[in-house]
Amino acid sequence: MKVSTSILSCDFSNLGSQILNLDKSGTDLFHFDVMDGRFVPNISFGPSIIKSVRNVTKIEFEVHLMIVEPFKYINDYLDCGVDILIFHLESNSNILECIKYVKKFNKKVGVAIKPKTNLDLLYPFFFDLLDIILVMTVEPGFGGQKFIENQIEKIKKLKKKIEIINKDIIIEVDGGINEKTALICKNLGVDICVAGTFVLNSSDFKKQIEIIHKI
Ligand code: DX5
Ligand code: ZN
Repeated sequence: MKVSTSILSCDFSNLGSQILNLDKSGTDLFHFDVMDGRFVPNISFGPSIIKSVRNVTKIEFEVHLMIVEPFKYINDYLDCGVDILIFHLESNSNILECIKYVKKFNKKVGVAIKPKTNLDLLYPFFFDLLDIILVMTVEPGFGGQKFIENQIEKIKKLKKKIEIINKDIIIEVDGGINEKTALICKNLGVDICVAGTFVLNSSDFKKQIEIIHKI
């Protein structure tokens, strides 16, 4: 199972060296949780922080935008040299417009859905354009929450749908990942797990990443 490490639980006084350590520890991706205090009840960081560590590693950066108006800020994130932009279906921007805009720059694009959002809302027009679907298994806003098990049905349904339409769309799961929930995800056919506290609340990032890799 691939790991995208969420840096939300990093020691921000040492962000650069933690990113370097995670690179050496084998993370497959870096996951940046951008929060505006409006779409979610928490504020994290913005583009300048992401830009400041872009050159520390060559590993792909994905940005999970938990903000009310993502379209307004797309250029700021593209300018950081990120590789993947993920928009919330529940945001106030026109998601199709966001997806098409990002595609013009040959970047990958994903859509995230909150636990209570019906998967069917994704179907009408997004599938042909998406590289990634990010299924939230916690209510977005904070690291360290418990995996919401009733999302398992949603992931199963999504997997089936992707198989039926035979498209190369990555399923990524975000929230409450540990060795037990990563195994559940693996068995459901998930491609990437986002892991924050499971990796960063340890003094040995490599060991934690290897645990998920071996699942
Ligand atoms: C929640 C974020 C997650 C979070 C994951 O809003 O989107 O990416 O940082 O953290 P853990 O792995 O601790 O649940
Ligand atoms: Zn996230």
